[in-house]
Amino acid sequence: MLRDTLRLMALATVPALASFKPLSGATFCCVLGSPIAHSKSPLIHRLFAEQSGLRLQYERFEVKPAELGQALAVLHALGCLGVNVTIPLKEEARRLATHATPQAELAGAANTLWWARARLQCGNTDGLGLVNDLLISRFAALEGSRILLLGAGGAAAGVIPALLETHPQELVVLNRTPARAQILVARHPTKRCLKVAVPETTFVRPFDLVINATSSSLNATVPVVDPSAIGSQTACYDMFYGVGETTFLRWGRALGATRCRDGLGMLIEQAAVAFYQWHKRKPETPPVFLALGRSLIG
Ligand code: ATR
Repeated sequence: MLRDTLRLMALATVPALASFKPLSGATFCCVLGSPIAHSKSPLIHRLFAEQSGLRLQYERFEVKPAELGQALAVLHALGCLGVNVTIPLKEEARRLATHATPQAELAGAANTLWWARARLQCGNTDGLGLVNDLLISRFAALEGSRILLLGAGGAAAGVIPALLETHPQELVVLNRTPARAQILVARHPTKRCLKVAVPETTFVRPFDLVINATSSSLNATVPVVDPSAIGSQTACYDMFYGVGETTFLRWGRALGATRCRDGLGMLIEQAAVAFYQWHKRKPETPPVFLALGRSLIG
């Protein structure tokens, strides 16, 4: 009876959930976003679950920001254990949750949701995912390093707290619209290593690490940054990933950077933190990276 009522509610408000039935005997989790068809999260979580013999049903549903509250109510009633959210739901997810981890609170955005005593909780595992990927892959040392972060949207906001926790010498935020970078930096008033630069800034020496957190790679453009930011020793990291090298990484290589990495590893590491949050099992990420690397190329 309750299920029928829920299904009617979902049909009216969240079309993607209308015909969905969770499998009995499986732990049910999902990812929500719009668009969502491209999401690799179901594959990543399934590979994690296989490692420990967890019977997991991990689905993806197309949900728009205005539908998120209703979708979460339906999912909770259907016994869903945990929900990932991606673009464009991260800010709305934070707003809807009763409780946020410090990372989600500081970012003003969440990518991982669960319930505790029927109350919606949220966290942001993007920052730890990025830091874990950079450190586990030995792509970049962070403590004492000079980091340039490009972008000041939700993606940049989500990783600043975790990057600050690694004690860089400086973390410079540069955005096409400088006022947005100012707003992000102002959220961390005690962090003196956190600074703003504008697109016209020239730098006295190249950075150790330049991270692209803009969505420029989605439309095959490159954010405007003075080439003085990049040298042969600069590690270039694009939080975006796709088939083949991103435009940002190609641009970095053309300026002489020899070390370039895209965001596939971050995607897997942030999923691992969410998986642990929900199931209290720590997955092995390197085999999943290999599995996805192969499937992305092949
Ligand atoms: P997200 O949640 O993915 O960060 P967002 O909040 O829309 O999405 O932010 C997108 C970011 O990418 C912004 O920093 C945006 O710059 P503006 O604030 O100036 O809009 C940046 N961005 C997108 N396309 C860009 C481009 N072609 N060049 C430079 N920055 C770009």
